[in-house]
Amino acid sequence: MAVDRRPLIAGNWKMNLDHLQAIAFTQKLAWTLRDARHDYATTEVAVIPPFTDLRSIQNLVEGDKFDLVYGGQDLSAHDAGAYTGEISGAFLRALGSTYVIIGHSERRQYHAETDDVVRAKVATAIRNDLTPIVCVGETEADLAQFGPSSLPVAQLRAAIDGLSPAEIVVAYEPVWAIGTGKAATEDQAQQVCAALRSALTETWGLDSGDATRILYGGSVTSSNISALMRQPDVDGALVGGASLDVIEFSSICRFLKHAV
Ligand code: 13P
Repeated sequence: MAVDRRPLIAGNWKMNLDHLQAIAFTQKLAWTLRDARHDYATTEVAVIPPFTDLRSIQNLVEGDKFDLVYGGQDLSAHDAGAYTGEISGAFLRALGSTYVIIGHSERRQYHAETDDVVRAKVATAIRNDLTPIVCVGETEADLAQFGPSSLPVAQLRAAIDGLSPAEIVVAYEPVWAIGTGKAATEDQAQQVCAALRSALTETWGLDSGDATRILYGGSVTSSNISALMRQPDVDGALVGGASLDVIEFSSICRFLKHAV
């Protein structure tokens, strides 16, 4: 974590919590963080719910003036038209979304999202004033074959190929660490996040490389967040399972308060 990049803790709910559960959960999260005097200026907190929850979360956040931000888990590469089942970036923006996750390994794996699709979606997000959280990460087999950083770096280069520098967030999520309870060590996370930052600097220049937040994701908990956040190139976390537990997630958000 570098002092001039505001850490981001984002909870990717995946396909969990309907809109009623989302209201109860978000309310409890916001109040827990408020009771703990969480300083959002020091650490940004985002929830990334299913699409069907977004309107309810918008009403809650705007109505109660919560400092939480939120976003979508995916978007269409198209802006509008005959694309049944797709959700446009403009719709996400109209609901007050700040972020959109793009290229999550579950989308790459179960929905055959290629690097070209990811790149098109990144361009669409930027065009619609959303900050993409671009996910990259290798499988265990990739790791054995190519070593730690080459595949995530190649995925990042492909995701921004030909695009002008813009605000993005990168999330390094090793597939072998997602939902397994086997998080990368802080040294592993740092090594890949540093390589990702170098690739950004090479492609988009020093300012982008310095300013872009790079998150780690994969079995993040309140027990491993502090060590991860002590690494100079890890600027936050994309949290899956642990983001569905208010106490655990708020503890992750408050990593700066943990005993070191
Ligand atoms: P877990 O935190 O459950 O490993 O999931 C990580 C993830 O995929 C976040 O996008």
